Amino acid sequence: MDAYVHVRGLSKAFPVRRGVGQVLRGEHPVVHAVRDLDFDIAQGETVGLLGESGCGKTTTGRLLLKLVEPTSGTARIGTRELAGLKGAALRDFRRDVQFVFQNPFDALNPRIQIGRSLAEPLINAGVPKAEHADRIRLVLERVRIKGVELLERFPHEMSGGQLQRIVLARALVLEPRFIVADEPVSMLDVSVRAGILNLMRDLQDSLGLTAIYISHDLALVRYVARRTMVMYLGSLVEDGPTEDVISRPLHPYTRALIAAVPLPRVSQTRDPLPLRPGTPDARKVGAGCAFVNRCPVAIAACTAERPPLVTLPGGRRVACHLMPAATQPRPPVTLSPAL
Ligand SMILES: Nc1ncnc2c1ncn2[C@@H]1O[C@H](COP(=O)(O)OP(=O)(O)OP(=O)(O)O)[C@@H](O)[C@H]1O
Ligand SMILES: [Mg+2]
Repeated sequence: MDAYVHVRGLSKAFPVRRGVGQVLRGEHPVVHAVRDLDFDIAQGETVGLLGESGCGKTTTGRLLLKLVEPTSGTARIGTRELAGLKGAALRDFRRDVQFVFQNPFDALNPRIQIGRSLAEPLINAGVPKAEHADRIRLVLERVRIKGVELLERFPHEMSGGQLQRIVLARALVLEPRFIVADEPVSMLDVSVRAGILNLMRDLQDSLGLTAIYISHDLALVRYVARRTMVMYLGSLVEDGPTEDVISRPLHPYTRALIAAVPLPRVSQTRDPLPLRPGTPDARKVGAGCAFVNRCPVAIAACTAERPPLVTLPGGRRVACHLMPAATQPRPPVTLSPAL
């Protein structure tokens, strides 16, 4: 079957403020937030998008929901090519896709009551008023919020967990088919987080949603997504079933990432690769591999040429010139149940 999300060569460069020298030299520096993404997502699949701060996760999500226009490349969601979508077709698209924000206050206006916040997407999408109450009741049941009296409250009169459920409800009220959840639980404390994550897992299963779950937290991605894509400075460096990526990371960056992340009750890879010191800088990505400056096993080819994302037998993908030599799979480690 055709992929539900189909992305080819998707790139986004943002202009950065120029210094006096650059203005005089006529230079137009850019930050390559996302470079040449290629991936497919099947209908009903949840994919985790993992990577450190600034690697382009949110930009990728925004590109897929047409909240920002790409510099180059194409994206198709369902049957819709995003380039050129406008007017009624764009409005229909906006009903089918939703973004779940990290901070409830980005999604909910603090000055309007919860009930009104939930009705707003219905009003904007032209859903007849007579249907609003039923739709809102159904979505509150779905996110397991009891008590319609909550609808009268303002956001500051709710707990963090309740608010995040309302944010989910708002995203689901139009019954979307594709959601991008951007660090949706990072603002919550640990006990509430587990409840929301369980809820998200259940909703994905019961509603058959196709979803991208963005996080820098491997343990969370592992909990909600069977497949994980790893990004480094705008590029996809690895893609595969989450458990395989954790137990047999192939890319040197993924290996370092997994070794560095404290995974509760998970045996980690036994031979972590030490990263070379340095901070990733999206303004300084050259012609070669994005990871070359911090890679402990880089060779001359890594500076000269970007490694393509290669599909290995079994379907995993990795972008590394050293495959299979330096990053060859090692024996799997035993994993305990997630979280
Ligand atoms: N509107 C913008 N204008 C200029 N630069 C931007 C813009 N949005 C993002 N960037 C830059 O693009 C790069 C990727 O940003 P992005 O927000 O996608 O990263 P991220 O992986 O979501 O990070 P985080 O984990 O911190 O949320 C960063 O270097 C960021 O500074
Ligand atoms: Mg982000």
